[in-house]
Formats: sequence, structure tokens, C-alpha cells
Amino acid sequence: MIPAALSHVFPLGSRVNERGRLEVGGCDLVEVAREFGTPAYVLAEDDLRARARAFADGLAARHAREGQVLFASKAFPCTPVLRVLREEGLGCDVASGGELALARAAGFDPAEIVVHGNAKSIDELEQALDGGVGYIVLDSFDDLERLERLAAGRGLVQPVLIRVTPGVAGETHAAISTGQSDSKFGFGMDDAPEAIDRATRAEHLRLDGLHCHIGSQLLGLDPFRRAVRALATLGEHPVYNLGGGLGVAYVAGQEPPSIADYLAAVADAARAELGPGKRLLLEPGRALVAGSTVTLYTIQTVKRNVSTWVAVDGGMSDNLRPMLYGSRYEAVIADRPLDPAGTRCHLAGKHCESGDVIVHDVELPDPAAGDVVVTPATGAYGYAMANNYNGVPRPPVVFCSGGEARLAVRRETFEDLMSRDVL
Ligand code: LLP
Repeated sequence: MIPAALSHVFPLGSRVNERGRLEVGGCDLVEVAREFGTPAYVLAEDDLRARARAFADGLAARHAREGQVLFASKAFPCTPVLRVLREEGLGCDVASGGELALARAAGFDPAEIVVHGNAKSIDELEQALDGGVGYIVLDSFDDLERLERLAAGRGLVQPVLIRVTPGVAGETHAAISTGQSDSKFGFGMDDAPEAIDRATRAEHLRLDGLHCHIGSQLLGLDPFRRAVRALATLGEHPVYNLGGGLGVAYVAGQEPPSIADYLAAVADAARAELGPGKRLLLEPGRALVAGSTVTLYTIQTVKRNVSTWVAVDGGMSDNLRPMLYGSRYEAVIADRPLDPAGTRCHLAGKHCESGDVIVHDVELPDPAAGDVVVTPATGAYGYAMANNYNGVPRPPVVFCSGGEARLAVRRETFEDLMSRDVL
């Protein structure tokens, strides 16, 4: 069967050009691969900006009280990406000292940074306090006591939110469901009243409200509504941060809720359950960045065994998600993306594990060594979880827009691999 068009999982504005090649951000991906090498993360800047606007404008339209969209920087912790999202008016959610440093380097106003972490160190709490961040989200009684002591030592009053695990499991892979009872995150519903009471009485903390994040890659809206309902039983607060979690399509046929539907659902639930006039914060990660980016690989070898194994120059070092969560991706060949698929194969990585398969059972049109393969929807948690397994340098990030390809992050070098050695 000849696909009529590219599937909707490619970045907005992607197309097949006159030469029959895949174009992202107006750039021919065969040429991008030639210029920047492979593997490479290629980000369509207009797609990223469009999704940021859909979130920011959508929240402003649906929620009369001021609200704010904060980028969950863990999804793509890369200064140039953070800078684009700051330019679009988003705030930033960080979950470690390192992410805080990236957010500050990207120029976020500290007042628009929210600091998370279920195991914050004293150093991280001090960096957040001294950096003047907007909110620190309290995750445990230890967190609460330490922060009160550190803030008192500085004569400060730090605005805080309390993270609650509302007893609502996100309907997703168990590893990324966080809202269920007995989670390592936040206060359970039983402990939350005491945490609220202690934070309210702490002289150097200003408790503004509650936070929850029930899970990631959620493809239904009901768990979000149930979480808001649970928060509503914990008294009335001026601020609610409802976390992230909106899922995205990784392969054709998946239809997650749109950004607009998600915003309508959470804004309506907030109005109905939490009362009018609340400040609403949201922390999308994946839904902002996943679709903006594709990964380019070059096929190194095609091996016909019981199955056909198409092996490329990257794999679990640039995309751990298939191995960690069994996630599925699409794959096409850059210079014939719409050709009838001829060969059923496994798209394998170059790493020394049999599990290093990027896509099982994918159809590719006559794949051969030297072909550039493209996997879409790799913007979230790809770069973020990249690693140097087998001494493979991490890929560059290339921004494409209006036909211009610009290097945003260079490829790691072998020297980088040794740059921390002391002996
Ligand atoms: N806020 C908090 C407190 C979070 O823990 C997370 C994600 C988010 C916001 C953003 O969630 P998102 O909108 O991206 O679903 N490595 C996994 C995803 C882990 C998500 C962790 N927390 C993956 O590749 O699927």
C-alpha cells in the first residue's frame, strides 16, 4: 500500500520535496545528514514554537485567572531548546541542580522557575533559595524541615507548593505512573493535611498551594480530572500546579487528546472542583517537545537472518525509550519516505546488546547500507536520556527553520569522553 502522505507524527510543516526526499523545517534531511553527520537530532523550530503557543495561548483563553505553562525541562534539557521556550513566554520546571543551572543559563526569570525533586540535597535547596526561584515544591517532611531551616538562616520567606500523590494512577507504563498511593513522590493523601498544616505554620515558608503529577504519556483525560477532584478535598488554596503528563502520538493511528482538549479538561475541572479565581500552573514536557524532533541515522549493514536486521549508527545511546518502556516508533528512509514498504525488518542499534532494537517489525522500502533512516517523535526524553554506552559520542542537535539548518548543540567528541579523567 502506498501511504498517501506522511503520518501526523512528523513535525508540523514536514513534507516530501520535489526530489522525493523528506523535508523538516524546510531542510532536506539527506542534506542535513551529509552536513552534520548521523546520528543527529533534528528539531523543527517552528513546530516547537507552535506547540508552546498552543499551550500558552490555550491556557490564557480557557482560564481567566492568570495561569502559567512551565516547560518540564527534563524532557529536553538543552539550553537552546529552553531558550526558545523562554522566548515564547513559558516558565521552567526543574528537578535537579543541573536542570536549574540550565534554566538559568537559558535566561529564565528565577521567579518563573519551579523546583522539584523527591530527594533534593541541601546544596540543591540552597541553590534554589539563593537563586530566588518562584516555587520550591515540598516532597517530604525532611524537605519541609530542611527548607524551613535554610530559609530561616537566610532571613527569607520562600514560596512553596506541596506535592500530593492523589491516589490516581496515570494509565500508562508502570515506570512513569506517579500519582498512585505508595509512590516515592510527594505526600500521600493521609499525610497531606499534616504537611499543609506544618508548611502553613512554618515562619520562613509561604504555602501558596498544591502540586500533583500523576504520570506521563497519558492518552486519556479522566485521570487528570480525578486528580483535581482529589486535590479539592485538601482545603482551598490560591495556586494549583497540575504537573504534566499529556501523551503524544509516536506512530500513525495513535490519537492522543489535543493540547486544546487537554487544557479545556483541566481548566474546567479546576473551575468546577477547586473554585473560581485560582492560579493554575501546568508543566508539560513531552507534549511540547516530542513531535518537534526526528532522529537521523545511517544504515551500516543489512543482515538477512531468520529476520532481516537493519543496523544503524545509533540506538540505545540516543534513544533508550524502546528498551526502557517498549515504546514504538515509526521509521522511514529519508530519500524515499513514501515508497511502498518492501522489507519487513528490525531496525537495530549498534550497541552490544540484543535488546538494542529501535523498532521491531518495521517495513522499509529496500533498505541498504548508506541510506539515511528517520525516526520521528524523538524530541522528548531522547536527548534527555542519551548516554555514552560503548563509548558512542552523543549526537548533535540541529535546528531547522525556513530551509536553514543551524547547529544548536555540537556532537560529542572522543576528547569529550576523556575530558573528566584526572589520572
Ligand atoms: N512535572 C513533573 C513533576 C514530572 O515528574 C514530569 C515528568 C513532568 C512534569 C512532565 O511530564 P510529561 O508532560 O513529559 O509527561 N523518561 C520517561 C518520562 C518520565 C517523566 C517523568 N516526569 C519517558 O521517556 O517516557
